[in-house]
Amino acid sequence: MTRGAGDPWVAVARAGTAGDWLRAAERAYLHFGAALGQIAAEAHDEALYLLLHGLRLPLNAPASVLARPLTNVERQGLERVLRRRLLERVPAAYLTREAWLGGHRFHVDERVIIPRSYFVEMIPALLAELLPVPRPGRRMLDVCTGSGCLALLLAHGFPDAEVVGCDLSPAALEVAAINLRAHRLEARVSFCRSDVLTSVPPGPYDLILSNPPYEPSAHVDRQAPEFAAEPRLAHDGGADGLRVIRALIRQAASHLAAEGVLVIEVGGLRRAVEREFGSLAPRWLETADGSNCVVALQAERLRRAAAGRD
Ligand SMILES: C[S@@+](CC[C@H](N)C(=O)[O-])C[C@H]1O[C@@H](n2cnc3c(N)ncnc32)[C@H](O)[C@@H]1O
Repeated sequence: MTRGAGDPWVAVARAGTAGDWLRAAERAYLHFGAALGQIAAEAHDEALYLLLHGLRLPLNAPASVLARPLTNVERQGLERVLRRRLLERVPAAYLTREAWLGGHRFHVDERVIIPRSYFVEMIPALLAELLPVPRPGRRMLDVCTGSGCLALLLAHGFPDAEVVGCDLSPAALEVAAINLRAHRLEARVSFCRSDVLTSVPPGPYDLILSNPPYEPSAHVDRQAPEFAAEPRLAHDGGADGLRVIRALIRQAASHLAAEGVLVIEVGGLRRAVEREFGSLAPRWLETADGSNCVVALQAERLRRAAAGRD
């Protein structure tokens, strides 16, 4: 691209300080229409993350770092990353190979979806309210574990619990294994390959949690490049989005403890879930942004429904 007036790369290349770079990068995000929502909802926040990561500064660095002058090497490195982000539409987390959730770092790459589940804000306090009285040796199962982030957050949040994570994708399980080693939780967390619950270690589980693929296939076909860069298996919930959710609800009863609970993030499918599974008395949990797209189902209801079907 030539560097004429209005070319966003001119300001990026001339940025004298970190703050100048941040302002120029933010304008470039808007100019190129990058899709957001994977690690941040606003261009400012994602550009700031790339800036701090590129300068090897902590994410909680004080605002005064924006006055810091950039060296030529730093400026060139930052521009290289920004070009990959905005011209090649590579998601920011695939560029930095990391995602931060609840104060913990997770390795991510193209083998897994970039974690952004509502469950992050619910572990452990909100989920603890759902569970029966704490007892040592609680067992938890994270279905559709991807990078393993939710299974590992469960283990951090419930220090007595034993946690299993499962996924259909062998590639995702390789990433989960990297995170398991990095978090040093091998004594309490394990991962396995399973199509929904068909091959998981025997229960009973006190909690089964899942952030499954729930986008209808037609939506997945039209995704912005950043989202299309993530594994399709992580998004595609079949024709109506409910394929994995339906299987999970049908299979959960025989894996849950008597007072166990199944919690599922269902995205925009709340009405569809209510229509199909209203008789299971779904309880919708509050999320920070009010979308309330996480549903809790009690083992007892699931068991009664399963018995009725037999
Ligand atoms: C939305 S991602 C969630 C990943 C992770 N739990 C998170 O919150 O970042 C859904 C995951 O479900 C997995 N998956 C898709 N179909 C599956 C199935 N039938 N059984 C088990 N896992 C499945 C995908 O490989 C993907 O890792």
